[in-house]
Amino acid sequence: MEKEILKIKEEILAKAKKIKDPKFLRDLETKYMGRKGEFTKILRSLSKLNDEDKKKVGRLANTVKREIALVFTELKNTLEGGEKGESFVDVTLPGIKMERGHKHPISLLTSDLEDIFTSMGFMVLDGPELESDFFNFEALNIPKTHPARDMQDTFYIDKPNKNGELDLVMRTQTSPVQIRAMREYGAPLKCVVPGRVFRNEAIDAVHDTTFDQFEGFMIGDDISLCNLIAVLKEMLSGVFKQEVKVRVRPGYFPFVEPGIEVDMSCTICGGSGCPSCKQVGWLEMIGAGMIHPKVLEYGGIDSKKYSGFAFGMGVTRLAMMKYGIDDIRLFNGSDMKFLKQF
Ligand code: PHE
Repeated sequence: MEKEILKIKEEILAKAKKIKDPKFLRDLETKYMGRKGEFTKILRSLSKLNDEDKKKVGRLANTVKREIALVFTELKNTLEGGEKGESFVDVTLPGIKMERGHKHPISLLTSDLEDIFTSMGFMVLDGPELESDFFNFEALNIPKTHPARDMQDTFYIDKPNKNGELDLVMRTQTSPVQIRAMREYGAPLKCVVPGRVFRNEAIDAVHDTTFDQFEGFMIGDDISLCNLIAVLKEMLSGVFKQEVKVRVRPGYFPFVEPGIEVDMSCTICGGSGCPSCKQVGWLEMIGAGMIHPKVLEYGGIDSKKYSGFAFGMGVTRLAMMKYGIDDIRLFNGSDMKFLKQF
C-alpha cells in the first residue's frame, strides 16, 4: 500500500511537470485528486486496513496529498502568471474603476416633465413607435391625399397590406396616442405621452431623423384655450425653474381648431439671435390647439358634449434650451464627453 502511494505520487508529479496549459493541469488534478480520482480511491481504501496500519499508511498518505497539492498550486501559479512565471499580486496597485452609468439628458428632462404633469393629475401613456397610417394620419384629420401630409416627411414601411397600400409608418408624432387613449378611456381625460418619433429629415444642427416628443391633452366639459395656456406656462416655468417668456401665435395643425404655436425666447442667445433660433431670438417650441371635433369623433368621444386641448413639442429641442446645447446631433451621438456632463 505504501509503495502504491509513492508510485502514484511519482506518476502524478511527472505528468504534472510536463504540462504547459493550466486547463490540462486542472484536468489532471481532477483525474487523480478529484472526488472520484485515483489517489482519492486509495485514500478511501485505507478504511479496510487494521488500526496500526491505518495510522502509519494514513500519515504517509496525508503527507503525500499535501505535497501534491503544493506542487499543483505552484505549477498553476507559474502557468497562469504568464511567461515570466510571476505569481505575485501587488494589492497596493489601484484597481480597475467600474464606471457607473446615469440617465440620458432626454430621459432626465422627460422624468421632470412627467413629474410636473402627474402632479396636475395627468396620466402618463405610451404608444407604439411603428404605427398604422390610420392612427398616425387618418384619425388625426389628415386624409390620404391631403397636402398636410407634406408637413411631416415620413418613413413608410415597405410592406403593403391586403389592399396593396403601405399602411405602416414609423410614427412621425406622438399624437396618434390621443386617439388610442380616447378609445381606451373615454372622456374626461388628462394624459401626457412621452415618446420617440421619426422623420425623413435632412440632418443639421436642429433637425434629426429620430427625436423625442412630449404630447399632452385634456378633454372635459368646459375645456378652453385658457386652460391650455395656463398648463403650458406651468410646464415651462417648472422645467426652467423661472418665468419663461412665451408668445402665442396662430398655427396650423390639421387635428386642432383653432391651432396655435407657442414660442419661447431663445435661452442660448438670450433673444438676440443665433443659429439655433435661426437668428430670430424666438424658438417654436410647442404646437397646440383645441382638439378638432372630427378627431374627438374618431376617438369615440361626443364632440357636442366635450371639448379638449392638445399640445405637442420636441423634448429634444426643450433639452437644447434647458442645457444650452447648440447641436441636436449630440443627443444620439454616443459621445461620452458630452453625456458625462449630465
Ligand atoms: N403633433 C404635432 C407635431 O408633431 C404637434 C402637435 C400636437 C400640435 C398636438 C398640436 C397639438 O408637429
